[in-house]
Amino acid sequence: MKNDTITNIDIVKAPSSKIKSVDFENLIFGNTFTDHMMVCDYENGEWQQPKIRPYGPIELEPSAKVFHYGQAVFEGMKAFRDENDKIWMFRPEENFNRINKSAKRLAIPEFPKEHFFKGLEALLNIDKDWIKKGFGNSLYIRPFVIATEPGVSASPGKNYKFMIICSPAQSYYTGEVRVKFSEEFSRAADGGVGFAKAAGNYGAQFYPTSLAKEEGFQQIIWTDANSHEFLEEAGTMNIFFRVNDTLLTAPISDRILDGITRKSLIAMAEVYNIPVEVRQISVKEIVEAAKDGSLKEIFGAGTAAVINPINGFGYKGEKYELPKLAESYATFLKDKLMKIQYNLEEDKFGWRHEVKQ
Ligand SMILES: Cc1ncc(COP(=O)(O)O)c(C=O)c1O
Repeated sequence: MKNDTITNIDIVKAPSSKIKSVDFENLIFGNTFTDHMMVCDYENGEWQQPKIRPYGPIELEPSAKVFHYGQAVFEGMKAFRDENDKIWMFRPEENFNRINKSAKRLAIPEFPKEHFFKGLEALLNIDKDWIKKGFGNSLYIRPFVIATEPGVSASPGKNYKFMIICSPAQSYYTGEVRVKFSEEFSRAADGGVGFAKAAGNYGAQFYPTSLAKEEGFQQIIWTDANSHEFLEEAGTMNIFFRVNDTLLTAPISDRILDGITRKSLIAMAEVYNIPVEVRQISVKEIVEAAKDGSLKEIFGAGTAAVINPINGFGYKGEKYELPKLAESYATFLKDKLMKIQYNLEEDKFGWRHEVKQ
């Protein structure tokens, strides 16, 4: 990592903006992209200067290593506009650190911090009209890295592309969600890549999830690969259980993504005197708690939805429904976290990051 200072961001502007053709009241998550993208190439052993280009197709050789060996990692983060037109991000250093942790595991060269933040800032400034005001509106930001070197030998690429694309988003509401506790398939194994946002972790979930959908579930809660006795996380969210008044969530490990929402919720729960236990959670105790009525809530936590309440779960052919609570931890914590994100409340934690305009 030699060339790690930014001397110049070369910007080519889109000839015209697509923004007027976008219906911001009816966005489908992840389907619409802004006018520009950030591109930065790794060549001759170093990351080159970041560039801003009009959003559009890129050309790669069919033998590019990403297609054959899955050398690809990504991130997901958001930008928010407050009532005074300031633009904020939520704990972006965490995403920067995590993409490099993921990259390292996939033998991808780490990306320099200045490239990440200056490139991102330039992109957000050029596309800032896409960040709409209003609680729930945001710009979803997707940084990713792929191995572009041609060649079908199974070895790490010498060339890479780091890109950032952005997609306007509204409040994420998925309707009622019922999950299946995994009994057969696994998402991650000890010593594997579960902790990384490696593209292949997600592709590998599509088939088991499609089977769960046929049984009437929207998502899978993954259990440990060795015994399937312990609950780990959902496909794109960490998972919390409320038993009586205590929140339970699994400890992070090399199988579980170190979610930024998860760690923020744990910190907030401590401040608001909500008891939290970070420990292994067995399927057995959750099934028993569902039966005796002490299981009050299950919710997923992740950047896209912030908190996604879960209405019920299935295990070994049985279905369990959760009570509808007037005062749920999910609603309380989501509101508190979003108020920090939108600069509507004091940020005691120092999580908000202003984007210079
Ligand atoms: C597997 C997995 N778990 C958990 C999360 C939640 O992480 P975060 O809160 O950082 O978005 C994500 C999303 O990034 C994910 O892909």
